[in-house]
Amino acid sequence: MENLGILRILTCGSVDNGKSTLVGRLLFDSNNVQDDQLASLENDSQKHGTRGKEIDFALLLDGLESERQQGITIDVSYRYFSTSKRRFIVADCPGHEQYTRNMATGASNSSLALIVLDAKAGPNEQIWRHLTICHLMGIQHVVFAANKIDLVGFRAERFEQVRAELTARAQTLGFKSIYSLPICAVSGNNLVRRDEKLDWHQGPSLLSYLESIETEVSADVSAGLRLPVQFVSRPNSDFRGYAGTISAGIARVGQELSVAPTTARTRIAQIFRGDVAVDEASEGDTVMVCVTDNVDISRGFVLSSPDNGPTLSDHIAADVVWFSDKPFLPHRQYLIQCGHQLIRAWGTNLKYRLDVQTQEHLAAKQLSKNEIGHCHISCSHPLIFDPFDQNPNSGGFILIDHATSETMGCGLIRYSLRRSTNVAAQSLSVSPQDHARIKGHGACCVWFTGLSGAGKSTIANLLEYQLNRAGVHTALLDGDNLRLGINRDLGFTEGDRVENIRRLSAIARLMVDAGLIVIVAAISPFEADRQAARALFSENEFFEVFVDTPLDVCESRDAKGLYKKARAGLIPNFTGVTAPYDRPQSADLVLLASQAPGELASLVKDHLAKLEILS
Ligand code: ADX
Repeated sequence: MENLGILRILTCGSVDNGKSTLVGRLLFDSNNVQDDQLASLENDSQKHGTRGKEIDFALLLDGLESERQQGITIDVSYRYFSTSKRRFIVADCPGHEQYTRNMATGASNSSLALIVLDAKAGPNEQIWRHLTICHLMGIQHVVFAANKIDLVGFRAERFEQVRAELTARAQTLGFKSIYSLPICAVSGNNLVRRDEKLDWHQGPSLLSYLESIETEVSADVSAGLRLPVQFVSRPNSDFRGYAGTISAGIARVGQELSVAPTTARTRIAQIFRGDVAVDEASEGDTVMVCVTDNVDISRGFVLSSPDNGPTLSDHIAADVVWFSDKPFLPHRQYLIQCGHQLIRAWGTNLKYRLDVQTQEHLAAKQLSKNEIGHCHISCSHPLIFDPFDQNPNSGGFILIDHATSETMGCGLIRYSLRRSTNVAAQSLSVSPQDHARIKGHGACCVWFTGLSGAGKSTIANLLEYQLNRAGVHTALLDGDNLRLGINRDLGFTEGDRVENIRRLSAIARLMVDAGLIVIVAAISPFEADRQAARALFSENEFFEVFVDTPLDVCESRDAKGLYKKARAGLIPNFTGVTAPYDRPQSADLVLLASQAPGELASLVKDHLAKLEILS
């Protein structure tokens, strides 16, 4: 076997384009199908095939798929096959609607993209999207297989048209190698052998091309060590080991280490691979290391070479690929997972959305499902990473929904933004305790949420009145009132509401810092945004009060006549009518409309007293 290394291939293209048939046929023609698989394939082809008495190679993949899945759902399946020249790993993503997500996962581990398209139909939006994702994920080699060439009469002119369009687009993205070839997957033309019907095409068959292409970049020996700590093992008080998979560089016993995000330094005392002590381990190895000093190291920390460490920054520029049905909205809080770090993050500035056809940068307020954009992201703590171009293993992340834990999108870190290192918190001399001493009570934020007309403002107002009469220092931030001032520029789109709640919660935070009991009354319809507000406060500083008045009751009250207008189509995005309201999942108090507003206000006041916020 020539020493070209394993070729990791990502297959893209929809099932209709013949992707499954192509991969199935490639496995079969390169003698990678076992006899028993072949027998069941022949059987399946008779029963379910679409090709009469012939073998339907698409079913081979389906067969392998069901064998592999056995009750577990996997997004990307990996197929392994080899020829006398090379070994291959094919990442194959099912062509259903979650495709973008799977594509991104598969692409992040592959070095060549095999894009299958229909020669007759030519490339479509989906193909450009896949090409863009492959490019963003750092894939440098691309092969376009123009399938179903038989359906255009094996005509060279049609292939040439398609090839020219694909190559021109791929060139603008800067791929290192681009190869296009005509094929017919069902009959195997040009897959393993060159085909006489296609003798006008000069290049090698698909398999010969894949066998000979050089894709491996020689390992950068100067790359610094990166060992993201996945877990800390402490079986007894004598032993402490830090386990993870080396994502770059080499670890050697005796080597000096820096421990991001701290400034600590130590040395490697021992390295274990499995149960075996080794002197050295390198990229891709899962290891446990012990160090010479008693330093603080937790999950999410990154052990690295001191002279060539990772970047630490809480403000980054990243390309984001969005998968979720819910849009990506700047200022909405997500969880960012980068390596084993899991912290809170917000898009601060959506710079542009990519037009996948033209690669143009378009102005955008949000990213919808399958869209790709470039965004500045701010994190609650410094993130430890390397720019994706330098180390894909430590430069990628996923964004997770707070409330549902759903993976919403993924991203590639391009660089750290300078602002993050030039602004630091100023320490203040007057503490929360100092404020409390003067005021004679604690400070907190009481956050009322509920539909329009639920009674939030009324109860909040009565609560403030009761507290004021009891000598408590308060402030009331009412959604409607703030929309007449600081939030005058905001409407009722989801993006504007995210910003509305971000501002209300930031103002509430400042006022709590000043020692007040701050009462907020705002619909605040999205769980993610309420959780983001909560995250600004410590445990006994934030209380979510859900005024659980049903929609029909709110609508029958209709004090401001807004429901009537909304039903008449005069107010767009009206909560409960044409815009959603997420019922709170973790309210501290739930108030029911069956009680009078004054009693409900007293319930909240009693709750604060019980928690000893009111002295
Ligand atoms: S929030 O959703 O962003 O939290 P907020 O509480 O500030 O909303 O403002 C809601 C108030 O704005 C309602 O009480 C109502 O008087 C008014 N309003 C005007 N248009 C809408 C709308 N489309 N949806 C909900 N409330 C609206």
